[in-house]
Amino acid sequence: MTEALHDREPTRVLLANQPTRGHWLRYGTQVGARIWIKRDDHTGSELMGNKVRKLEYLMAEALSEQATHVITCGGEQSNHARATAFAAAQLGMKSVLVLRTDDPASPPAPTGNILLDRLVGAELVWISRAAWRDRNRLLAEQADKLRAAGARPYIVPEGGSNALGSWGYIRAMRELVDDLATIASTDHPVTIVYACGSGGTGAGLILAAKLWKLHERGIRVAGINVCDDRAYFVAAIGKICAEAEARWQLGANVTPEDIEIVDGHVGLGYAKSRPEELATIRDVARADGVVLDPVYTGKAFHGMVTELQKDPQRFGSAVAFIHTGGMFGLFASPETLAQVL
Ligand SMILES: Cc1ncc(COP(=O)(O)O)c(C=O)c1O
Repeated sequence: MTEALHDREPTRVLLANQPTRGHWLRYGTQVGARIWIKRDDHTGSELMGNKVRKLEYLMAEALSEQATHVITCGGEQSNHARATAFAAAQLGMKSVLVLRTDDPASPPAPTGNILLDRLVGAELVWISRAAWRDRNRLLAEQADKLRAAGARPYIVPEGGSNALGSWGYIRAMRELVDDLATIASTDHPVTIVYACGSGGTGAGLILAAKLWKLHERGIRVAGINVCDDRAYFVAAIGKICAEAEARWQLGANVTPEDIEIVDGHVGLGYAKSRPEELATIRDVARADGVVLDPVYTGKAFHGMVTELQKDPQRFGSAVAFIHTGGMFGLFASPETLAQVL
C-alpha cells in the first residue's frame, strides 16, 4: 500500500489469517494452462474466505459504534451471513441473519452454513424470494426493532459489499502484488480471476489495480459472475468504487472499461450446479487436494477453464485464481456432489 493510501485506510480489527499463501495447481497442466491459486479459503476456519477480509473493516466500525448486535442478509446458505455471525460472536456481539428461502413457513434443514449459524446462536429471520427485493428495508426494520428494545444494532450490507468492505481487497492486492512479483517474472501478462457474487471483492481489487496502475505491469483483474450478468456487476462494482472515491478521495477514478466481467458461466442459475461444474470440483480435489465450493469458486473456476479451453491466451500467460472460500456450502447438499464421485 502506498503511503498516501495507507493514511486513508480505515481502522480494522484483526480477524483473518493473512497474508494467505499461494501455489501452482497441477490441474493446470491437465488443461494446458498455468494456474496459480491464492488460498483465501485459509483466512480462517469458522471465518474462512473472502468475507473475513471485508469484515475486518465493517466489524471495526460496528465496535466503534459500540454495537450490541450485527444484522446482515443473504441466501439460505450464505457464507457471508455465517462469517458475520461468527465474527460477531468472536467480538462479543449478537447477530441477526435475514435469509432468503423458497418457503419461509418451512425453513430449510440445518445443514452446511445454516448448521453453523444455529450453532453460534444467530437469530435467523426467513424471508421469501419476493421479499428479498425489499431486503434493505427489512434490515432497517430489524434494526428498529432492536433499537426499540434498547439494543445498538449495526447493519452489514449484503455480502459485506460496500465501500468500507472493499478495503479488504484493496489490502489483499498488496499481498497479490508481492505474490505476482514471483509469478510475473516468468509469466507475463497475468490475470487475477475471482468469483463475483455481490461485487465487493471485485471493487477492492479493481480500485487497487487502478491506483497502482497494475495494467502497466501486465496485471489484469477479471471477475466471473456466478449470478446476475455483466451489466449488473459493472453497475454494482462501479457504484461501490464511486462510494469509496467519494469517501476517501482515492484518485482511482474507476470507469466501466476498468471493470472486466466474464459473463456466460452462471449455468443453471445461482447455487444450481451442472454435472460438468461438479466434475471440475472433483478433478481439482483429486489433482491438487484443493476443495472448491459449488456456488462460487467451483462455478467460477469451471468458467475460467472453459474460457482457457476456447483460447489458452484468454487471460495471458498465467492465471492467479483467488480461492474465496465457501467450503461449508458443500455440506448443504452432499448428494448433489456425490453424483460425480
Ligand atoms: C465463497 C465465496 N466466494 C465468492 C463470493 C463473492 O464475493 P463478492 O460478494 O465480494 O462478489 C462469495 C460471496 O458472495 C463467497 O461466499
